[in-house]
Amino acid sequence: MSKIAVVPGSFDPVTLGHLDVIRRAAGVFDEVHVLVVHNPGKNAMLPLSERVGLIKKSLEEDPDIPDNILVASWSVGLLVDYCTEVGASVLVKGIRSQIDVAYETPMVLMNRSLAGVETVFMLPDPAHAHVSSTLVRQVASLGGDVSPYVPPAVARFLDKKRPA
Ligand code: PNS
Repeated sequence: MSKIAVVPGSFDPVTLGHLDVIRRAAGVFDEVHVLVVHNPGKNAMLPLSERVGLIKKSLEEDPDIPDNILVASWSVGLLVDYCTEVGASVLVKGIRSQIDVAYETPMVLMNRSLAGVETVFMLPDPAHAHVSSTLVRQVASLGGDVSPYVPPAVARFLDKKRPA
């Protein structure tokens, strides 16, 4: 039976750190679902559909990305409900620091308790350790160059949104 993993996140927007984790997950699991999830604790910059579109475009344009990846969104219900629906038993989360471990730990235990879904932590390349969607949004909104931190499709998109 093929092992399906879900890489969930807000992806507002997707960064090079996210792509690194997605690529690593796709090397370990048979099938990877990148799932754009509404985070009730955050005010999103981009609508879910736009975030999905940017991830798809970024994956299409990256020659190092394998083809066992699909992109979807989930806005109603629990993350583990999506896992049950598609037969995924594992979540993959990218970890940059101990702060991420502390943030993720209660969710790992809750998702395991709710539905027996396990979580695997993956460490992205340390070159991306300081990169987060939050800082990318901030740098972009203040007129800075985000191209070192995001896939080209996202850099182009944010550049177009920049006030003239
Ligand atoms: O990129 P983020 O914002 O850190 O991702 C967090 C996310 C979306 C994975 C998290 O908010 C989440 O799991 N949301 C789904 C809601 C849910 O199922 N909650 C109960 C179990 S923790």
